[in-house]
Amino acid sequence: MTGLSDSFQRPIDYLRISVTDRCNLRCIYCMPSEGVNLLEHEDILSYEEIYHVAQVAAELGISKIRITGGEPLARLGLSSLIKMLASIDLITDISLTTNGLLLGRYAAELKQAGLRRVNVSLDTLKPDKFKFITRQSDKLDDVLESIEVAKAVGLNPVKINVVAMAGINDDELFDFAAKTINDGWHVRFIELMLPVGVSTTTAQFISVTDIRKKLEQLGDLEPCVHGIGNGPAKYFRFPEANGTVGFITPVSEHFCYLCNRMRLTSDGKLRPCLLADDEIDLKQSLRNGASSERLKLLIEEAVAKKPLHHNLAEGYMPKDKPFSQVGG
Ligand code: 5AD
Ligand code: SF4
Repeated sequence: MTGLSDSFQRPIDYLRISVTDRCNLRCIYCMPSEGVNLLEHEDILSYEEIYHVAQVAAELGISKIRITGGEPLARLGLSSLIKMLASIDLITDISLTTNGLLLGRYAAELKQAGLRRVNVSLDTLKPDKFKFITRQSDKLDDVLESIEVAKAVGLNPVKINVVAMAGINDDELFDFAAKTINDGWHVRFIELMLPVGVSTTTAQFISVTDIRKKLEQLGDLEPCVHGIGNGPAKYFRFPEANGTVGFITPVSEHFCYLCNRMRLTSDGKLRPCLLADDEIDLKQSLRNGASSERLKLLIEEAVAKKPLHHNLAEGYMPKDKPFSQVGG
């Protein structure tokens, strides 16, 4: 077989690249409200360095890239990186995960640069709750506007990521699901993970089984036959709906057996798993002038370290880095 695969024969063709640990929000499940240790600019990979890694990874078998953060649009000139990545023939899909605050401003140039699709993180449709969850901003309208602009410029699909939290937004899960019928939204419900040092607790966890119960009145969910996207979400549709409902169950049912991804952290470490501490340093090698062959060996070494599965259900969380640095 050509391409990359790990020691459990899982094909690895998807790289998530975190371009910054910075964010213009402080969502309660992601970051502490203050005192976040931010990386210095020189500790972050340059766009040229990211391009170099992507090029070598593509030669090994990576064909799909997602840009994440922190908030990727908080880094200047992101479209120029997208353009560089899009110039790599072997890369066939480039996507972005964003909180949407700045997406309206950049959507057209991102699309022009070669971005294909986008996921917008949005956990509430109520302005006061938006401010509570993000701890920063009353700019819900900007996010809603961004979603429309992203669709209008042809980013397709635009998916909405909703982290479900009991007592916080569980009264709105129905409203989000209704938008798949009324507005053609593609909505994905994500089970809350509880990294250390952030402000959510087990009391706020809701399983996908319970989320689904809250949507029952909208009709029977029919499974979508063809997978949409590169990830572990399972997709459904209400009868007559143009949009889809996806469920992501990192906690209640791990999907590690399907894992096809590696992560490049903003400080240049290749991480075999979001939920394990192992990392391979690429930055040092890049800055020491390592050859492409040497980089390939390091990437293969990192892929070989992919664990069979995470241990979230047993309460194990990686300790050394917040999600905002690894890329969610
Ligand atoms: N639990 C579940 N999802 C999370 N995300 C960030 N932190 C968590 C968490 N603790 C989600 C964001 C975004 C994606 C990158 O990861 O909402 O949609
Ligand atoms: Fe920023 Fe996304 Fe984390 Fe919210 S979830 S603080 S938007 S990186």
